[in-house]
Amino acid sequence: MISLRKYNTFNIDSHCEQFIQIHDKAELAEIIKSIDQPFYILGGGSNVLLSDPISKPIIKNELKGIELIGEDDDHVIVRVASGENWHEFVQYCIAKEWGGLENLSLIPGTLGAAPVQNIGAYGVEIKDSVLSVEGYDCLNQEFKSYNNADCHFGYRTSIFKYKLKDKFFISALVLQLDKKHKLKTDYGSIHDELQKMRIDSPNISDVSEAVINIRKSKLPDPNKIGNAGSFFKNCTIPRSQFDEVKKRFPNMPFYQMDEGEIKIPSGWLIEQAGWKGRRQGDAACHEKQALVLVNFGQATAKDILSLAGEIKKDVYLMFGIELEYEVNVWV
Ligand code: FAD
Ligand code: EPU
Repeated sequence: MISLRKYNTFNIDSHCEQFIQIHDKAELAEIIKSIDQPFYILGGGSNVLLSDPISKPIIKNELKGIELIGEDDDHVIVRVASGENWHEFVQYCIAKEWGGLENLSLIPGTLGAAPVQNIGAYGVEIKDSVLSVEGYDCLNQEFKSYNNADCHFGYRTSIFKYKLKDKFFISALVLQLDKKHKLKTDYGSIHDELQKMRIDSPNISDVSEAVINIRKSKLPDPNKIGNAGSFFKNCTIPRSQFDEVKKRFPNMPFYQMDEGEIKIPSGWLIEQAGWKGRRQGDAACHEKQALVLVNFGQATAKDILSLAGEIKKDVYLMFGIELEYEVNVWV
């Protein structure tokens, strides 16, 4: 059995029988034709919770390469292989003065997983930069490309997260980045952080640094404490339900969305339900960010799911709101 502890940021001591690394597109097509389906596709392991053992084969993405494929006065177009590291690529873009991804600094994982849940932070989502997503259609055994509209991007979702889950191996992203930068500094505490850094006219590198500082102040470092970022999604509820809950909890924070829906920060709900900072064995709800569940060392997927279940139950009893997992649970 192969230990997967170093391949998942939750630091779960899971095992599997078959672990195959893919280094180029020819190898990808060959392997997928030859192995038993279904299988799991693994990037950096920063958005998965692994049971033990994992019964399906695991294909680990090691596709690498960055290619400039287009350029005009305003934009560059780059094709990036899906096994590249996300944060390193963001820093590469900043060094080249290509804007658009700086607010997404310090998100762990690979390029290939970024469109799966349409990664987002500080007012930006990967969908804002994606021209197309290329990959291997594992059922029809052919390479294929999805343009932005076909990806059905939404808040923490895309066609790859549900309909094509483990059926389409993303091999590369084609991204459009800006040579004339449009900074987004009005979200959350970026503005305050830039002031703290004494920067009046920020550039993309300053915005990246501000985002990194904010993230380091509240999110646990997976190299020190196992975690997969937000375990739950923020919740979106209809206006009628919101009006009813808001009457009982007038201080509840919220954001108005399109189509009359309201987004409620699940971190607030969990904190109000009394779970922030609570620990059950080695599984815990993080003391600085209630959306993040952590593994203090020997927690198993069962321990994390048992904690998540209790949190869900209490939030439902208190608010009548159903929390949804963001993390992908593998069995
Ligand atoms: P993995 O965990 O390996 O895989 C995630 C899912 O994508 C799995 O279902 C997997 O099968 C699928 N997948 C992976 N690669 C491919 C591929 N090539 N083709 C098809 N499917 C694939 N996320 C945010 O959106 N915003 C944040 O601010 C954020 N902050 C985080 C902070 C921390 C400390 C941590 C640990 C995580 C955070 N995350 C955040 C979650 C995570 O980093 C992202 O979801 C990231 O994109 C996952 O990348 P990965 O390569 O580790 O994916
Ligand atoms: N809040 C609390 N208590 C908490 C945490 C949050 O009350 O313990 C409330 C506060 O009202 C706060 C608000 O929630 O103002 C928002 O908190 P924060 O800015 O920390 O962001 P979040 O909504 O909890 C989301 C993403 C993060 C992303 C940040 C920044 C989701 C599920 N999570 O968290 O993404 O980095 O915004 O944009 O949407 C991830 O997906 O893994 C992730 C870390």
